[in-house]
Amino acid sequence: MKLPVYLYGHPVLRAVSEPIGPEYPELKELVAQMFDSMYLSEGVGLAAPQIGRNIRLVVIDADPVSDSFPECAGRKMTLINPEIEIFDEPAISRSEGCLSLPGISENVPRVEHITLKWLDEDFQPHCEEIKGFLARIVQHECDHLEGKLYIDHISGIRRQLIRSKLNNIATGSTRVDYPAKYAPAAKRR
Ligand code: NI
Repeated sequence: MKLPVYLYGHPVLRAVSEPIGPEYPELKELVAQMFDSMYLSEGVGLAAPQIGRNIRLVVIDADPVSDSFPECAGRKMTLINPEIEIFDEPAISRSEGCLSLPGISENVPRVEHITLKWLDEDFQPHCEEIKGFLARIVQHECDHLEGKLYIDHISGIRRQLIRSKLNNIATGSTRVDYPAKYAPAAKRR
């Protein structure tokens, strides 16, 4: 079964997620399903709130963008309880999209140099300095665990300009070509 992606307007995307431990039920199955959903919707990252669970779990496979961003080659990761330290460097603006915000992409300023600590799906600890677009993906996904979306980082003017698109997603009138779950208040067509 493919897990539906929860869309903008759903409250699960705005809640702060909880850490998990090895006792979390059927975790490996869930991780495999998250990768499947991510590949089906052609994303490079998916955070657990996007499949309706407020737990600190992220899957990433950045390899599909490695032609443009070589640092992403072969980078397939499962992040459990990730922690980020952002380097004190100037932010760079690049285009981002999100499976929970279909049909929208915006330039988002972020620092592209972080230290990432995480547990893999066997709960083994890792720590790595990560740069470039991969650092951006990791920050985008970890934002989801805090109930944040990339549109929170853009200017008020840009947000105004995409307001009707956001409304269309939240009210259920945006068509999505992957399994998706609209906000509870959305009126379906
Ligand atoms: Ni996202």
